[in-house]
Amino acid sequence: MRYILMTLLLFMTCLSVSFAGNRNGDVEARIDSLMSRMTLEEKVGQLNQLDGRRNLPYIEQLLRTGGIGSIMNITDPEEVDRLQKIAVEESPNGIPVIFSRDVVHGFRTMLPIPLGMAATFNEELVYDGARMAASEAYEHGIRWAFAPMIDVSRDARWGRIAESFGEDVLLNSRMGAAVVRGYQTDSPGAPHTVMACAKHFVGYGAVEGGRDYNTTNITERQLREVYLPPFKAVADAGCASVMTAFNDIDGLPASANGFVLDSILRKEWGYDGVTVSDYGAIGELMKHGVARDREEAARLALLAGTDMDMATKIYTGHLPDLIREEIVPESALDSAVRRVLRLKFRAGLFDRPYVGPDLNGGVASSENMALAERVASESVVMLKNDGNVLPLGRAVRKVLVTGPLADAPHDQLGTWTMDSDTSLTVTPLDALISGYADDVEILYEPGLLYSRDKDTSRFGALRSKASEADVIIAFLGEEAILTGEAHSLADISLKGMQSALVELLSSAGKPLVTVIMAGRPVTAVGEISKSDAVLYSFHPGTMGGPALADIIFGKTNPSGKLPVSVPVHAGQSPLYYSQKSTGRPAAKIRSLDDIPRNAYQSVLGHSSYYLDVGVKPLYPFGYGLSYTEFDISEPEPDDTLLSRSDTLRFSVTLTNSGHADGAEVVQVYVRDVHASLTRPVRELKDFRKVFLKKGESRRLQFSLPVSSFSMYDINMKEVVEPGEFIVYVGNSSTSGHSFSINVR
Ligand code: BGC
Repeated sequence: MRYILMTLLLFMTCLSVSFAGNRNGDVEARIDSLMSRMTLEEKVGQLNQLDGRRNLPYIEQLLRTGGIGSIMNITDPEEVDRLQKIAVEESPNGIPVIFSRDVVHGFRTMLPIPLGMAATFNEELVYDGARMAASEAYEHGIRWAFAPMIDVSRDARWGRIAESFGEDVLLNSRMGAAVVRGYQTDSPGAPHTVMACAKHFVGYGAVEGGRDYNTTNITERQLREVYLPPFKAVADAGCASVMTAFNDIDGLPASANGFVLDSILRKEWGYDGVTVSDYGAIGELMKHGVARDREEAARLALLAGTDMDMATKIYTGHLPDLIREEIVPESALDSAVRRVLRLKFRAGLFDRPYVGPDLNGGVASSENMALAERVASESVVMLKNDGNVLPLGRAVRKVLVTGPLADAPHDQLGTWTMDSDTSLTVTPLDALISGYADDVEILYEPGLLYSRDKDTSRFGALRSKASEADVIIAFLGEEAILTGEAHSLADISLKGMQSALVELLSSAGKPLVTVIMAGRPVTAVGEISKSDAVLYSFHPGTMGGPALADIIFGKTNPSGKLPVSVPVHAGQSPLYYSQKSTGRPAAKIRSLDDIPRNAYQSVLGHSSYYLDVGVKPLYPFGYGLSYTEFDISEPEPDDTLLSRSDTLRFSVTLTNSGHADGAEVVQVYVRDVHASLTRPVRELKDFRKVFLKKGESRRLQFSLPVSSFSMYDINMKEVVEPGEFIVYVGNSSTSGHSFSINVR
């Protein structure tokens, strides 16, 4: 017995030593030992990431010599294991490669696009979605996912707004951290986890005019207050890697930008994860015009702090000579290699290099589908519901389903869907027929076959079906191809003949429910005004159909909130709630038609708005309706005189005073009323999504450290300046009760 106990104790001690060791000291020692055996070329090889879709025989050759550290875009588990075997068994030091992929919003089972995930305002749900995506990707051999994208995006023209969590700093921070935790978990490297990669560092969302890859114009203060905080948040959440952006920041392309990569990320934040360039971005240093040739590009990128070279072979081509000639110090290479090896240890690759047999066959399982449906349903934002047209009631007998997105299995998945399977998609038409056709007659006539369709030859048939129906549901929006990378638009109104389709439908005199499925906030003032109810669904993924059908028929209550302002017109871009007041905030707004002819200039006053489209969004950030009513009581602060090291504590009572169970997102905004520099009119500082049964009330306590109200002063020092702050508590960025606090 004693022997058994001793053995058990010894075994447990060994286990804990190896576990602790794996996490820190021991790993560093193993990296030291590996690096002492690696040649210069093998070290540089670790920094080389290539696209497995191109020239595989060459990649295999590199695997044998240790000339490659990571392979992208191979998702056949057997192929992954075949290639890995070469690295592990034939390369000089047996270092496994790390397989990577853009796992942006699901893998096989597609979640809503990230903008839709943000609309849930539900971090736990986004965490669960990320867990699911990680698990499906892992089963395909992926250990490194290029997500989350946490570029604060304030310009709806930018195609990549679809991939972001929207316009707000805090929302990007919290959703980004939820994805990182979901991918990596508390035990990174365990089966079914993948390493996360926060992108794009930094300022990519600020591309001028919303044109992808364009230059940016970001002051250091904006960088620190708007674009960097989400990256800091995910770094604090343990995000294993960061991808550099394509854009330049104050003249220096991100992959050669030592200010952001080295001074801020490494030195200020002490970040020890890997940095990887974006696809081909080191080569683009030449197109940007800051590197004369590939050799200079290699030198600039490595010295700035870009560890891994995605897809150009510039590092392998030039770093060995640059180091031998002492133009680049070997210490810079060693630091980068150490970080890449550390990533591989963290990913558990040295213990479990192969996909192997530990799969549980969970890809696209019914649990995953149910989760995708839950995320999709919480991502739907109800913008309008005149006369409580929704949910459809028992009196409805015949429903006409129409529009180019009603049955578009590919388009409803959105951008970044390489690993999806459209045969799994359940469209709104499918879901309405399978879930509701026993109770109501479903008529279907798409009217238009795709979002850009200009062919109105089906309109005749549509008109006659519209005359038969009790209610019309039109699914409008954007095809997936109009959104995402390199798919920016100057005009973000609904394309093709969609406006004419709405015109026709509204002339039928039946209640018109419009569902917009898009990769961005589109401008649809006319279409929305002609509709009785509007549901905004960002491309909702595989299970978007049932999510929407159940909302339409009231089985679920919409609870999404806008993660971006919906503009009236693209000309308002960039548009975001946390704008500055300006010296002349919009006062009396005159519409173009009100302006008298031959009037002298001053009749219009002198304030900041557009004569033709005003200044306000059609719907503000944080907005979204429900089938029930919520009341938020006057906030009750514990104390309103606070010092900078205090925490502001207050409580409110949230009551579901309507007739349905539902969820509300209580949002807390702060305004620094008077400071040494201009401050945004409001900034989101906290939010909480709360589900309440009808008639139920709940007391909610909020605690906000006063330090979170900070700004960067003229000396670029992070400070909380004394004085008055207004705290707003409401259910959108334009509503709510407020109270003032004074910070000493
Ligand atoms: C995109 C990245 C992506 C990379 C790898 C680039 O074009 O900007 O977001 O991770 O390709 O696919």
